[in-house]
Amino acid sequence: MQDMINRQFYLASRPAAEPTSEEVPFRDVPLCEPEQGEVVIRNMYISLDPAIRGWMSDLSNYIEPIEIGEPIRSSVIGRVVKSNSEQLSEGDVVLAVGAWERYTTAQAAAVTRLDESAGIPLSSFLGIIGPTGLTAYFGLLDVGKPQAGETVLVSAAAGAVGSTVGQIAKLKGCRVVGIAGSDDKCAWITDELGFDDAINYKTCGDLEAAIRGACPQGVDIYFDNVGGDILDAALMCMNKHARIAVCGWISTYNEADAPGPRNLWQMVAKSLKVQGFVVIDYVDRFAEGIEQLAEWLMAGKLQYREEIVDDLDNILPTFLKLFDGSNQGKLITRIPEESV
Ligand SMILES: NC(=O)c1ccc[n+]([C@@H]2O[C@H](COP(=O)([O-])OP(=O)(O)OC[C@H]3O[C@@H](n4cnc5c(N)ncnc54)[C@H](OP(=O)(O)O)[C@@H]3O)[C@@H](O)[C@H]2O)c1
Repeated sequence: MQDMINRQFYLASRPAAEPTSEEVPFRDVPLCEPEQGEVVIRNMYISLDPAIRGWMSDLSNYIEPIEIGEPIRSSVIGRVVKSNSEQLSEGDVVLAVGAWERYTTAQAAAVTRLDESAGIPLSSFLGIIGPTGLTAYFGLLDVGKPQAGETVLVSAAAGAVGSTVGQIAKLKGCRVVGIAGSDDKCAWITDELGFDDAINYKTCGDLEAAIRGACPQGVDIYFDNVGGDILDAALMCMNKHARIAVCGWISTYNEADAPGPRNLWQMVAKSLKVQGFVVIDYVDRFAEGIEQLAEWLMAGKLQYREEIVDDLDNILPTFLKLFDGSNQGKLITRIPEESV
């Protein structure tokens, strides 16, 4: 394999703001033979998740940061091209913790074999029936604990996680209001996904007033994907004993000095329950979540959007779409098999 070249994007230095190509450059390195128990995977799909920005920092997090010099960690789906393990054969398609690279070398015991013949689009194992769908499922149902008739407010509502949260909340009989950053996104979640109302936070003016208008009974659950000013506005609209499921704070990920929330005293005033979570807290229940999400999907009760970009060389600008809102749903870089 030494004559094969692996292009990989790596962390040259820790970004203080949006990562640049100086901080995340690429290099071409020769591919090594897999050691005993390892496989070499030719990556086909690379998941682009906001969390990756957090791993570029050395702040305390739920997993170790990416070390300087290491490739940018990511979930990947690819085909085994060389196996030095009895557990996997060449040609198998697997889900692995890989990186922004053409080839990933991994322990066979640490990857999950996927059934290509099941007719499920492989990319959905990174999205709606993968970490994205599971985040929405456990975050809403286990942390938010929705009851029929309650009002659920969700931010980044047209995104991969948020759009799934809103649909599950509708399935549970809730009134659902989404906050998103464009009229097109607002139209999609109300007209196509069945949200009851949507607020364009970029054009609505007084966001707190807009939330009150869209949630006349107050907010029972706020599913927070963004933090910042939107969290502050939501805090002012919560009902007594309401819950906030803190999923992510994307508005702060590129801000070294992001101000903290101003209205946290509402936790006392309204006896709120505010709980953060990460999807891997639920790893023991993933099978349950995948089964339920797949059932809803096959019954036509869940819809999702993916934006798949065929361009490893532009993976960094593609990743940055998550932070300007130009992504349309679950964001993925694809390396077409014939191009490798
Ligand atoms: N806890 C967990 O285990 C877990 C797992 C997965 C994801 N997450 C978190 O869930 C959130 C959504 O992730 P995703 O993968 O589904 O991404 P996504 O929602 O598909 O894409 C990110 C979206 O965030 C919005 N956004 C970006 N910057 C913003 C800002 N400054 N203010 C308000 N909105 C902003 C943009 O939508 P607009 O156009 O609407 O602004 C953008 O499209 C992130 O915070 C992520 O870290 C957490």
